[in-house]
Amino acid sequence: MCLEGENISFGYKRNNLILHNVNISLESGKLLGLIGDSGSGKSTLCKILAGYENNYQGKVSINGKEIPPKGYNPVQLVFQHPEKAVNPKWKMKDILNEGNNVSQYILDSFGIKQNWLNRWPNELSGGELQRFALARALGPKTKYLIADEITTMLDAITQAQIWNTVLDIVKEMSIGVLVVSHEKNLIKKLCHEIVYLDDINDV
Ligand SMILES: Nc1ncnc2c1ncn2[C@@H]1O[C@H](COP(=O)(O)OP(=O)(O)O)[C@@H](O)[C@H]1O
Ligand SMILES: [Mg+2]
Repeated sequence: MCLEGENISFGYKRNNLILHNVNISLESGKLLGLIGDSGSGKSTLCKILAGYENNYQGKVSINGKEIPPKGYNPVQLVFQHPEKAVNPKWKMKDILNEGNNVSQYILDSFGIKQNWLNRWPNELSGGELQRFALARALGPKTKYLIADEITTMLDAITQAQIWNTVLDIVKEMSIGVLVVSHEKNLIKKLCHEIVYLDDINDV
């Protein structure tokens, strides 16, 4: 199985393209690193691949089929700031189970403690919140994970713990992962293959 972005072109403003004719393909069970300068359009490409941005040219597909706009998206995006991905007025257990019920196995894998579930988002650290964001994203119907700087804000130990868990789960579930980071060493350690956005972007 393969997630493909073909000839993706996009600009937030008319006549100001950020992405031009970008081609990228992510295979199931593989980790693909994406490197690029700050502001070069990495997050924009992530949003397009995960269906958050619809106003682009080109095609995003899985095995040649476009992804239906309604229903669970098998392409899940997790980004740098988990606090922006949760409703501050919801308790963690409601945030967690908004889509699918997250299994106890996934919760345990991320070290999510039972008593965290009764807390509000602002009662958790960034690392703890990011574990929730990942647990929520790695549901049984997820086929691809777009990991946009998911550990950039975290300390080295938390970063390693989180990536170890993600690696185990994506391997078991044969999930393809796009690893976006400006940390080349992290990407080199994690990924089977690396692409530079500049090399695949005609802008
Ligand atoms: N919602 C938005 N509206 C207008 N411009 C944006 C928006 N989001 C990002 N940009 C601009 O698009 C460019 C690419 O941003 P981004 O994709 O976030 O880059 P990266 O993730 O590589 O740092 C930047 O110049 C940024 O300022
Ligand atoms: Mg970014």
